[in-house]
Amino acid sequence: MDILGISCFFHDAAAVLLRDGEVIAAAEEERFTRKKHDYNFPSQAIQFCLERGGIRGQDLDYVAFFEKPFVKFERILFSTLQMFPHSRRVFQESMVSWMTEKLWIKNLIKDKLGVVEAKILFGDHHLSHASSGFFCSPFDEAAILTVDGVGEWATATYGIGKGREIKILKEIRFPHSLGLLYSAFTAYLGFEVNEGEYKVMGMAPFGEPKYLDKVQRLIRVEKDGSFQLDMDYFCFHYSTDRTFNGKFVDLFGSPRDPKAFFFTPTSGYPSYFGERPVNYNSLARENQHYADIAASIQVATEETLLKMANHLYRETGLKKLCMAGGVALNSVANGRILRETPFEEIYVQPSAGDGGGAMGAALWAYHMVLGKERKFVLEHAYLGEEHSKERIETFLSENNICYERVDDDESLINQVVEELQGGKVVGWFQGRFEWGPRALGNRSILADPRRADMKDVVNTKIKFREPFRPFAPSVLEEKTDDFFVLPEPSRHYPARFMLYVVGVKDDKREAVPAITHVDGTGRLQTVNKTTNPRYHRLIKRFGEAAGVPLVLNTSFNLKGEPIVNTPEEAFSTFSRSGMDSLVLDHCIIRKEH
Ligand SMILES: [Fe+2]
Repeated sequence: MDILGISCFFHDAAAVLLRDGEVIAAAEEERFTRKKHDYNFPSQAIQFCLERGGIRGQDLDYVAFFEKPFVKFERILFSTLQMFPHSRRVFQESMVSWMTEKLWIKNLIKDKLGVVEAKILFGDHHLSHASSGFFCSPFDEAAILTVDGVGEWATATYGIGKGREIKILKEIRFPHSLGLLYSAFTAYLGFEVNEGEYKVMGMAPFGEPKYLDKVQRLIRVEKDGSFQLDMDYFCFHYSTDRTFNGKFVDLFGSPRDPKAFFFTPTSGYPSYFGERPVNYNSLARENQHYADIAASIQVATEETLLKMANHLYRETGLKKLCMAGGVALNSVANGRILRETPFEEIYVQPSAGDGGGAMGAALWAYHMVLGKERKFVLEHAYLGEEHSKERIETFLSENNICYERVDDDESLINQVVEELQGGKVVGWFQGRFEWGPRALGNRSILADPRRADMKDVVNTKIKFREPFRPFAPSVLEEKTDDFFVLPEPSRHYPARFMLYVVGVKDDKREAVPAITHVDGTGRLQTVNKTTNPRYHRLIKRFGEAAGVPLVLNTSFNLKGEPIVNTPEEAFSTFSRSGMDSLVLDHCIIRKEH
């Protein structure tokens, strides 16, 4: 039985193919269209899924859409009318987009895929999130927490999963939204909403949560974790382009200029920013204020999530927790939930945001609508497109690119290890691309984590990222405990997907400065021998040679671009950056050539 899951029209459109209850293909549309967070109908991701499954659209048994468009439309209609005339513009804009496209998703799916109406199912946004967490997990029974910006009406739900059933126990409704609160601060701090949330999280450890009491004026959190926003400070409920208003600015001061460089006395002023400005000190002080605000919203978010999780534990008494929704990508908060609540194991699937709703919708249809038994666990994220050895070599030779073909993989790995040890930055491209926003060793850029200057080197040569953003380590799962505060790492799936921030052990921080954040933490990826044997071998070999069983791993893309999919994109990224070498499966390309 083949079920296609689809999510689109908000952000991160995606498609997933579920065959007899197992995910056999999953991809976000941005990887094909090269438009970051592409939210349009995921035609190319669907095409990839169908090709991977060897079927046509009309062969599908069901198509599951991740939310209910009419209910969502009702919420938008209701809330904009309530805020009229403030909401005149958002009302007009949403009428146009909903009337012309979004409401007619059923027809669109029928036309594009050639399936009959009876085969199209519409899930509920948060139930799709909950399904994507629970039905991908290895748990027979678990508490479920979903937290995001907004779905139809819900912005957060508490639930419980047992076997093939999920029951939603309680929901928090729009406009009260933890995700939208965080996004308002993301915008205030000068970053793009739905994109810059990671930057706020990375910036937070440079500050102190000095403004926690002010943030608490915006959100009232009850003992059970339910919350209410004071809507006097926001305008996301009636504006298309603004999330916070003048009253918010009165409370926190002027928003940060998105074009200004962010640095604090602790982060330093990297060389790729150019010459140090004459008013460096006063700018650093100004930025410190914004770092303190970032710390405050981050802590407020963590505290709210902790209350929610604790309440859910009290209600369910279960030791296992599944989380989903965009807020479940907050890896710092996830780490705290693991450490500070009675939950012993947590599952978050790698694409926890709306893209992941496509996977959840397909699983919901299979288990909850059709009543089929569970037999699938999402063990890894390597579910995207792959490119054959022949295709890679054809591309290289047709374009007269000088490369070395290495048929003995051990020899290739030894060469890469040597380059990494020599301070080179290596593009590492193999197999199927990853599901979700993180590169986990198949579309990664690698470097030596032992060198303190490596952060600047990678930033200067390739990523041009803000200096406050940490780089992540990929560590051998079985050696994780030697370097990071995460006992029994194999039990912790979120760590496989880079969704936990944990402490780097005190005595190891100096050994791996390039992946240790300013507060002594790291957003680790544990690498499992079974799910990515080749990447595991590479890191193991690096460990034997360099003394640390981990590498610095950053996603294979340039700033502002989606992670690469094809060998062409990898080579183009390599050429346009200061990367030293590129490994395309079994071929090595070096800049010196
Ligand atoms: Fe969502």
